Amino acid sequence: MKKNTGAQLALYPAPVIVVGAMVDGKPNWTLVAHAGIMAHSHLMLSMVKAHYTNKGIRENKVVSVNVVDASWLKAADKMGCVSGNKTDKSEAFAYTLGGKGAPMIDEAKVTMECEVEDIYDLQGFDNFICRITGTYVDEDILTEKDKIDYRKFKPVLFQFPTYEYLETGDILGACMKMN
Ligand SMILES: Cc1cc2nc3c(=O)[nH]c(=O)nc-3n(C[C@H](O)[C@H](O)[C@H](O)COP(=O)(O)O)c2cc1C
Repeated sequence: MKKNTGAQLALYPAPVIVVGAMVDGKPNWTLVAHAGIMAHSHLMLSMVKAHYTNKGIRENKVVSVNVVDASWLKAADKMGCVSGNKTDKSEAFAYTLGGKGAPMIDEAKVTMECEVEDIYDLQGFDNFICRITGTYVDEDILTEKDKIDYRKFKPVLFQFPTYEYLETGDILGACMKMN
């Protein structure tokens, strides 16, 4: 028996990222779990309009998407607890500017730099539609064909009901070869 629990968002666990953007000439960082894939070239970031980072994204139209793993989870979590509206977070990470000018976290093993192509306004959220322009990956987690090796790289996941972090686990099987 399944019970209808109402319109409960149930698409978890979701990968945790730190979004980076320049705001008034300094980097700012925000923890985000509500992000999604669009086509094979774009992703969407769902961010509360009042966030300090949104101001920089709207102005510059470039962001970095830094995928969190356990090695820097503590520092990433802090970016979800304090706002640039009140506290200067610009010194939180060593960073490098990408080709489009987005600040990218040095200790993140995977960072996508993106250009913002559109903003879908919904219920107090800026939903940034982003085109990926470059993906920077630590060579230690790359395969010979320059693909990310998810046997080595374990993104942190977030689940809403108990507000906890998990990480990706074991391989269950090869896609389209299960039968
Ligand atoms: C686990 C976790 C996930 C979060 N996910 C999101 C999210 O998907 N979208 C969002 O707008 N805020 C999210 N937040 C809240 C922001 O990270 C937080 O309000 C942050 O302080 C905003 O920073 P800023 O004002 O400097 O941009 C999340 C926070 C935590 C702890």
